[in-house]
Amino acid sequence: MKFLITGGAGFIGSNYCHYVVDKYPEDKFVCLDALTYAGNYNNIKSLENKENFKFVHGDITDRDFIDKLFREEQFDVVINFAAESHVDNSIKNPGIFLTTNIIGTQVLMDASLKYNVKRYHQVSTDEVYGDLPLDRPDLLFTEDTPIHTSSPYSSSKAGADLLVGAYYRTFGLPVTISRCSNNYGPYQFPEKLIPVIFSKAMKDEHVPVYGTGENIRDWIHVHDHNVGVDLIVRNGKVGEVYNLGGHSERNNLTVVKTILKQLGKSEDLIEFVEDRKGHDLRYAIDSTKAEKELGWNRTYNFEDGIKETIDWYLNNQDWVEDILNGNYKNAYKD
Ligand SMILES: NC(=O)c1ccc[n+]([C@@H]2O[C@H](COP(=O)([O-])OP(=O)(O)OC[C@H]3O[C@@H](n4cnc5c(N)ncnc54)[C@H](O)[C@@H]3O)[C@@H](O)[C@H]2O)c1
Repeated sequence: MKFLITGGAGFIGSNYCHYVVDKYPEDKFVCLDALTYAGNYNNIKSLENKENFKFVHGDITDRDFIDKLFREEQFDVVINFAAESHVDNSIKNPGIFLTTNIIGTQVLMDASLKYNVKRYHQVSTDEVYGDLPLDRPDLLFTEDTPIHTSSPYSSSKAGADLLVGAYYRTFGLPVTISRCSNNYGPYQFPEKLIPVIFSKAMKDEHVPVYGTGENIRDWIHVHDHNVGVDLIVRNGKVGEVYNLGGHSERNNLTVVKTILKQLGKSEDLIEFVEDRKGHDLRYAIDSTKAEKELGWNRTYNFEDGIKETIDWYLNNQDWVEDILNGNYKNAYKD
């Protein structure tokens, strides 16, 4: 089978490429990425000589380019990881989120219909469900929780999800959607909480924490997320949504303190900063459906996963430094 993996030079998509290229030598994987500020060719450079892997530089919103790519490659499966993904950026500049996350999804689905793709998978987020109160630990998001978004980012992801559902119902496109909680692991761009803490703390700079740090996220290792996506794509039921969660709720302050402790840094580095506008309080996912229907489960617990992740950043400080000084932009030459 031939797979298109969009956004494959980003955090989750690049981890996905590493996982499947090794696991399925008989399949072919084309990784498409626009290499925006969040895309980093260094994340997948080590795959460039693999026979079943190919990188293509391009934009999912470019209709002519996407049509030509689909015509030439005749994909069996499309997995759309490509997105603008940072909530803070969506508050400053919502427009690009609508273009990439919604129009880009439409362009990919139009080509998937035209060239008879057998499965279109949309990688979505638990943020489409909005948030849960801090004082109701009994409440979890299920696949039936109403869409109720807070940020331009989550609204654009929700808009795309609704469109994916419409292409299934109206045009019969064979779709699936996964909605996952907060990921951590190797290759995460240092704008998100965990690599930000790491890179600031290593330079003994203040580590910013929004508000009082009490907001709760349900942390999942990126590998467990990607195993779930792979199971959904291969064995999931067409037309269905599957939640993937970490079963590891931690508030932001706990995450920061865990990392500082591992790095041997003082908690005095913590600096509480003005809260994010519309900041979601708590996310928590019920993944029973994926567990029962697909036999999916997590292999990491939070403490071991975070330790391994911080060790990865410690062993790959050049990778972080390359981003901070902008050199990563030279990793790919057209
Ligand atoms: N990070 C999380 O915790 C998390 C949780 C749940 C769901 N998700 C979803 O998973 C997906 C991947 O997230 P991530 O954290 O890896 O994001 P990321 O920002 O690290 O990567 C996104 C990738 O998409 C590429 N891209 C952006 N616009 C593009 C375009 N127009 N055409 C082609 N490529 C383009 C970027 O260059 C980048 O490589 C997103 O859809 C996101 O909404 C993320």
